[in-house]
Amino acid sequence: MKYIFAVVIVAMLSACNQSSTTTVEESVQQETLRELLDLPEHMAVPAIPDFNPLTREKIELGRFLFYDKRLSANQTQSCESCHDQQLAFSDGLEVPTGSTGHQLTRNSQGLANVVYHSTFTWSNDTFLELEDQLNVPIRADNPIELGVTDSELEEVLARFDADPVYVEMFANAFPESDTGATINKIIFSLASFVRTMISAGSAYDQYLLGDKTALTEQQKLGFQLFNGERFECFHCHTGANFSVSYRDSNTNSGNIQFPFFNNGLYNVDGEGSYPASDQGLYDLTLNEADKGLFRPQSLRNIELTAPYMHDGSIATLREVIEHYARGGRLIEYGENAGDGNLSPLKSGLILGFVASDEEIDAVIAFLESLTDYEFINNPKFSNPFEEQ
Ligand code: HEC
Ligand code: HEC
Repeated sequence: MKYIFAVVIVAMLSACNQSSTTTVEESVQQETLRELLDLPEHMAVPAIPDFNPLTREKIELGRFLFYDKRLSANQTQSCESCHDQQLAFSDGLEVPTGSTGHQLTRNSQGLANVVYHSTFTWSNDTFLELEDQLNVPIRADNPIELGVTDSELEEVLARFDADPVYVEMFANAFPESDTGATINKIIFSLASFVRTMISAGSAYDQYLLGDKTALTEQQKLGFQLFNGERFECFHCHTGANFSVSYRDSNTNSGNIQFPFFNNGLYNVDGEGSYPASDQGLYDLTLNEADKGLFRPQSLRNIELTAPYMHDGSIATLREVIEHYARGGRLIEYGENAGDGNLSPLKSGLILGFVASDEEIDAVIAFLESLTDYEFINNPKFSNPFEEQ
């Protein structure tokens, strides 16, 4: 009965989206996904790739791996080292240091609702599935995060094969394979766990679900300003995740927007360049116009994920909004000196605006309504080793 109900709902939803016809089998899958993810009704069913279906067993294994330092070559770091649940899975640093002391150039991203992004990391148009991206923290040798390079891989995998708890978890998660731990199984399980990290329990969500008292009058004003044509925030920070990098199971891949913008943070040469250490999408494409292109970060739990921007170079939300009000950041001294407001490469949506202190306070108050205390305290995402 439940499934018939789901079919009707999905059919209704997809009526507005001509591209998708949902078969009975697909709607059964969507219903199971809703249960698995504990999704509230206002959140869309996310897109999960066919090659890695979500199962409880993979999610469980992924959760252990996420918190296990044995996953770094020298056993000093786990994913948690840079992605702390109390900080909505960010780390409070401008930029982190990897397991071997290597300084990274980018700020650790919060991991709420990653499953709804259409691209991953601060600026990469080739990571279209989490499985692509997760190779980086585990395997990369420049910069080094967990440092499991080719020469270390066998030893790291042997650690899991030697632990009976993991032997059982790997066998349960991948029943069709009897080869023990492999890097693909690790990545598939971590991707599955990260996909379950859904944040939809903030005051703002209560408001969306119909509780008009969930936001204060100040927060409602901030919400209006955020969505208005003076502040312009919503053009780039929109939808369930406050980012145009978005997709769900109903998104037609042809409709996915190119989700990268230059928001005027730097202009070191008067021609719009960013510091050479990180020029965003340009570093991949070498196309001049791509200098400073980054993904609008999701604003979920933004109060907890300071400092801000791809390099953690803005400390507070007030300074972020002042940066937008100015229409780009002015850096007066030092090697990064330059006026972002004059950048020929900044987005046409970063025009600057006049705002009173009260209005800025209201937008900050609205952004704080996105803090989800259920999410940061949810035992499903917590360290399983501390439970035992
Ligand atoms: C040394 C710190 C560090 C460690 C350890 C680390 N990360 Fe990250 N993580 C980062 C940084 C920095 C970024 C942004 C990378 C970029 O933009 O290039 C990031 C980005 C991500 C993203 C992309 C999020 C998005 O919204 O696109 C995911 C997912 C992620 N990390 C998961 C993991 C997992 C799983 C692990 C463990 C296997 C891990 N990270 C280990 C620092 C770290
Ligand atoms: C033209 C698109 C665009 C507009 C308009 C825009 N943003 Fe952004 N936003 C971005 C991009 C791109 C980034 C990441 C830039 C970077 O890291 O270099 C970002 C980053 C942020 C961050 C930091 C996120 C983090 O996790 O560090 C906050 C907060 C933010 N924006 C809030 C706002 C607010 C509030 C407004 C309206 C006043 C706004 N944005 C308008 C594109 C935009």
